[in-house]
Amino acid sequence: MAATCDQHLFVIFGATGDLTRRKLIPSLYRIVTENHVADRMAIIAVAPREMTDGEFREVAKTSLHDAGIDGADAADWCDRIFYQSVGRDESFDGLRERIEAVEADLGFPGNRAFYLALPPVAFPGTIDRLGEARLNRSPGWTRLVIEKPFGHDLASAHELNEQVHEHFDEDQIYRIDHYLGKETVQNLLTFRFANPIFETSWNRDRLEAVEITVAEDLGVGSRAGYYESAGVLRDMVQNHLTQLMTLVAMEAPPGFNATSIRNEKVQVLESITRIDPEHVVYGQYTAGEVAGEPVVGYHDEDGVAPDSRTPTFVGVKVAIDSWRWQGVPFYLRTGKRLPRRTSQIAVTFKPAPVCIFHGEHDECPIKPNVVVLTLQPDEGFQLRFEVKTPGSPPNVTTKHFTFDYNAEFETIPLAYQTLLFDVITGDQTLFVRGDEVEESWRLWQPILDLEDHPVHPYAAGTWGPAVTNPELAFWTDEWTMRT
Ligand code: BG6
Repeated sequence: MAATCDQHLFVIFGATGDLTRRKLIPSLYRIVTENHVADRMAIIAVAPREMTDGEFREVAKTSLHDAGIDGADAADWCDRIFYQSVGRDESFDGLRERIEAVEADLGFPGNRAFYLALPPVAFPGTIDRLGEARLNRSPGWTRLVIEKPFGHDLASAHELNEQVHEHFDEDQIYRIDHYLGKETVQNLLTFRFANPIFETSWNRDRLEAVEITVAEDLGVGSRAGYYESAGVLRDMVQNHLTQLMTLVAMEAPPGFNATSIRNEKVQVLESITRIDPEHVVYGQYTAGEVAGEPVVGYHDEDGVAPDSRTPTFVGVKVAIDSWRWQGVPFYLRTGKRLPRRTSQIAVTFKPAPVCIFHGEHDECPIKPNVVVLTLQPDEGFQLRFEVKTPGSPPNVTTKHFTFDYNAEFETIPLAYQTLLFDVITGDQTLFVRGDEVEESWRLWQPILDLEDHPVHPYAAGTWGPAVTNPELAFWTDEWTMRT
């Protein structure tokens, strides 16, 4: 593994922000220590604030400490971090000189990763300044990592793509969706393409429905400023849930590499001609109780307009018009202030064609087989199947085969650790390609454009709004989830 990690500089824009402190610094430390490549990386932290290298190294030590990392090795590693203050509109010429000086000092060949841990408004200016200072090219490789959200809608995503492509080639660009870094999300491909037992049934002949659920128990917290203009569709669906859907629905790629996998994911998106607005249900949480604690409604959160119509829940029925999926509904749903945090994909098989068992009132007692893949927490999967209850008269009951990640494996790497490692080793498989991000916006844009789509209230701590339309009754029942 060490052989694939070249000597390089990792340059973080937005170095004094929350993401750098909470995720980037601890993940980079874990990567270099676990792979024994500490001497192959140095970091240049960039932000407007005036600070010395020494002062920033103290910030880095605190961030490692907060992540449970202490000791002499951690302190030594911080000495490989340099700090460069760059004003908001200042050119990057000074930064380039610093980069070249650090490289010359360390004898590094000029490989550079630039990470934009910045608010989206700062993306265009930073990208332009990188290009103007000729930091888009280097003696070695140059990679650009862009945090989400990539655009606010289809037009802005397209514009941002055009602008990045003025300076960088697509194979230099790493667009982050942190869901793709989750081990259990990557396992979707292993589960499907390493287990023909499931893959041969993974189609319209055998499957009844696919339900993708990302439930959060938290509310909007201190992020109302951003969330009010985003809403649930931009915040969770256009990116994370759409990515999950493409991984569940894609065809087998010819190989396990970035081009093949991303081609297949784009094909899924292209096969969705239209999302029917009638099949979209929005909700917004009102006051209620989560985990036994009273919580306020969305309207009473700090920074939320009293008459806000921003949805915090959405349930959608999506049709994929492909030979594999025609007629199999994909139900996506996600919301804040639901009863508990869980992300699951439930794949329900078609029922037995003829029922030869009879329940007490002559009904068919057989339940459909379901595979439930739990992405977080309690990572693992479960297969529900029917068994005969011992004794007579013969009866049928549902049991589970389960696989528990945490019981089987010692550690599950964190999403950012996986993604950053892929950046420094040059693997784009888990990053969203330019055409893919636009296809995804294309899908949701007509729904974002709906002006008066109803937003139904739901009490915090419930599974979303009650809905009467029978087409949408799929989440009025208890969702198909692992209990
Ligand atoms: C982020 C959203 O992208 O994902 C947040 O902006 C959301 O609103 C978060 O809470 C969920 O991520 P995770 O990894 O906790 O499931």
